[in-house]
Amino acid sequence: MNKPTRGTLLGLAAAALLGLGAADAGKIDECLECHFEDDFKGELAGDIAQLIKDSADADSGHPSDLSGLTEEEIAEIAAHLAKGGEE
Ligand code: HEC
Repeated sequence: MNKPTRGTLLGLAAAALLGLGAADAGKIDECLECHFEDDFKGELAGDIAQLIKDSADADSGHPSDLSGLTEEEIAEIAAHLAKGGEE
């Protein structure tokens, strides 16, 4: 019997572990399911970080839960988005 669900969960757990050292790589992928990498291009990383924090509020209406992001992850995502995904 195949158990695809279990395999998927293990895969996700592994991805989460691998993502520990590189928060931007793991977390930003979640964002890019709905956002384009250059959605926030040209804006200041600090401004984007504040937008992310605002969107993490339960009543912000953001379709995905951003409240689990750490301060560091928010900073990394904001820095990444400020550059429009270009290094
Ligand atoms: C399920 C789809 C989806 C995912 C996943 C998602 N977003 Fe969003 N996000 C949206 C939509 C739709 C809006 C616009 C909501 C609105 O206008 O109220 C939005 C709005 C925002 C805004 C506010 C933009 C502004 O100008 O006010 C920020 C910041 C943001 N998202 C950041 C993120 C980050 C960071 C992630 C990843 C951790 C993420 N989003 C993941 C759909 C998503």
